[in-house]
Amino acid sequence: MITLKSATELEAMRQSSRIMATVLGELEPLIRPGIRTRDLDLYAEKRTRELGAVPAFKGYRGYPASVCISVNEEIIHGIPSGRILQEGDIVSLDFGVLFEGFYSDSALTAPVGRASEDALKLIAAAERSFYKGLEQMKEGNRLSDISAAIQQSVESEGYAVIRQFVGHGIGRALHEDPQVPNFGPPGRGPKVRPGMTLAIEPMIAAGSYEVDILEDGWTAITRDRSLAAHYEHTVAMTANGPEVLSARTPDTARPGIRLPKESPHA
Ligand code: MF3
Ligand code: CO
Repeated sequence: MITLKSATELEAMRQSSRIMATVLGELEPLIRPGIRTRDLDLYAEKRTRELGAVPAFKGYRGYPASVCISVNEEIIHGIPSGRILQEGDIVSLDFGVLFEGFYSDSALTAPVGRASEDALKLIAAAERSFYKGLEQMKEGNRLSDISAAIQQSVESEGYAVIRQFVGHGIGRALHEDPQVPNFGPPGRGPKVRPGMTLAIEPMIAAGSYEVDILEDGWTAITRDRSLAAHYEHTVAMTANGPEVLSARTPDTARPGIRLPKESPHA
């Protein structure tokens, strides 16, 4: 069952997303050669609590950290550790918070120092496919129009869409209906309606879409060990079209929202 959010509920989701985006925006410039993935996680947890929210992933189905940090061929759900990021790695940060009863969820992939041209192109393709999907979030469309647009965008650039994991509704639960696959035919599923809140999250690979899970029971990697990228925002359908609740720049902020602290690169 899809839960449509009221204006009041949307405002709470906006605030949850704003806190999450602030923290994720502060993490991004910390991605440098020499930092341990655990340091990024500890920073995120501390800042989230300072801003009055709770990390959403810690303890979720037993997940042991606040951020999912996935390096190179790792697609999602990498567990922060003593691993030191190296120049040329690419790293995906997936983060969510719970604030006043509402969840937010967002991910980005960034290079560590200078990465290869191929790696940068893959990162850009994941981000571009998200916005191609978002363009389809309009009244009259159906959910799978978003999915199909993402797949078309990713495959037109020569990359593969991960099938084993999908986007999702979000709100009072981290994962709500509907599922939002990043592939499939257009024109299917429920209609896009005001009040719908979704985590749209393309996960893509430079090689094939097949996935393996590491011994830790969490980390999803590409079976062919090709590079992977992930890009995600919490978005809401409104009467005026889609709103990216977790945007890290202030352009979607609306009057009455107090920014806890401007993202450093906003
Ligand atoms: N961001 C992930 C998602 O979209 C959630 C991480 S799962 C967790 O579903 F267990 F790590 F929390
Ligand atoms: Co998600």
